[in-house]
Amino acid sequence: MINNPIFFLGLFSLALQAIPQVASAPHQVPFDQFLATVKAASFPQWKHSAVDNEPSFDQIKTHILDMYSGVGSVVHSFLLDGRYADCIDVNKQPSLAGRQLATAPEAPLNEPPVSPRGPTESGTPVGSPLTQKLKDPFGNDISCPDGTIPFARLTLERITTYPTLAAFFAKSTNGAGQALSAREAEELESRGPSAQPHLYAYGFQQTTNYGGHSWLNLWSPVGDFSLSQQWYVGGSGTSLQTAEGGWIVYPQHFSTQAVLFIFYTPDAYSTGCYNLECKAFVQINNNWYLGGTFDQYSVTGGGQRGFDLQWKLYRGNWWLYLRGASATYDTVGYYPGSVYNGGQLTKNAEIIEYGGEVTRFTTADVWPQMGSGMFPSKGYAQAAFQNTIYYNPRDENEGVGVWSDLTKVDVGSHSCWDINITESAQGGGWGTFFFFGGPGGNTC
Ligand SMILES: *[C@@H]1O[C@H](CO)[C@@H](O)[C@H](O)[C@H]1NC(C)=O
Repeated sequence: MINNPIFFLGLFSLALQAIPQVASAPHQVPFDQFLATVKAASFPQWKHSAVDNEPSFDQIKTHILDMYSGVGSVVHSFLLDGRYADCIDVNKQPSLAGRQLATAPEAPLNEPPVSPRGPTESGTPVGSPLTQKLKDPFGNDISCPDGTIPFARLTLERITTYPTLAAFFAKSTNGAGQALSAREAEELESRGPSAQPHLYAYGFQQTTNYGGHSWLNLWSPVGDFSLSQQWYVGGSGTSLQTAEGGWIVYPQHFSTQAVLFIFYTPDAYSTGCYNLECKAFVQINNNWYLGGTFDQYSVTGGGQRGFDLQWKLYRGNWWLYLRGASATYDTVGYYPGSVYNGGQLTKNAEIIEYGGEVTRFTTADVWPQMGSGMFPSKGYAQAAFQNTIYYNPRDENEGVGVWSDLTKVDVGSHSCWDINITESAQGGGWGTFFFFGGPGGNTC
């Protein structure tokens, strides 16, 4: 048997497969060790990073230590996609700043507003990786016990890929993440893409709303920054405010694979942050990992994966709902109304937007793929889509959504991407939906 060359070859190729995994797997870094390393860190050790200078480094280090100051001990951590998550006590999470969850606002429990046409089938939902009984390379469960939430480890390695803490918090390193009125969108289109570092294909509607819903078909396009998301927008100028969520490919910040994300800004993208990276969003559910990869993605010509995402403003707080493979939604958590400083999003949003956004970080980079990298004309199982797009018309428990009536905006060349919106009257079981995306390229 041992002399059998085929068997030998088999062993050899097994070994070849195993080597890169072992070599690239980082050694296990327990939470306490990680935090001790941050405490001991000084700028000279991090001079090689992208950080501007010593004050910027100190600000980053202070932020990390401040975020973890009340977190206490961590009993379980796991590695997913090469990055650590720590399961932290739900009552000790940074956004609660020492308050107990018991004093958290009343959730609009039961189900969030349903689609005007009842349940629909969009493809196979993704399960959250945290509910799949997976193990990391060290044998740790990829899940968090009840009473804890998964908190993506805020490391110096991650934040020091940016010059400053503010650059890390920003939606991307080269400007705003959008959210435009109809007039602004027209202006933007007329100025042409060269004036705008971020390019888009999306649909919007100006309407008083309390959040809304879509099912987001999940892909991992290639590029510096490419996403599919929802925006709920209020105010204007420097008082513009948003609550956002969807999936994003943003390797510098997260991964080359799409991750689940939320984002908010209270002041036209001057401040705000992703996920749990600053003290804002309060997570109450341990099934979902903000900033984490999914275990399955859509396949061209094959299975289509995706998830339901819904934001709902209820009694002053913005609640996030997600639904993957389970029949019911998880109430993931909320942005306390206080993060909006008495601004428009403490009352209601005024615009809904759904679609894709891309940017590139240097003019030497190609513009990323958007969606699946395929044009909308390719249709189901080829092009990316969002469907069952509706908004919540009232601040109420449960309730019924209203189909969105979206106006198309393309920013960038039609040779790079496009969006094809179908309104609810023609949309059948999908209600209002669109296909969007394209290959990107050198000149967009
Ligand atoms: C847009 O979508 C509609 C509905 O799916 C379809 O009939 C139409 O052919 C599409 N148009 C393009 C240009 O892809």
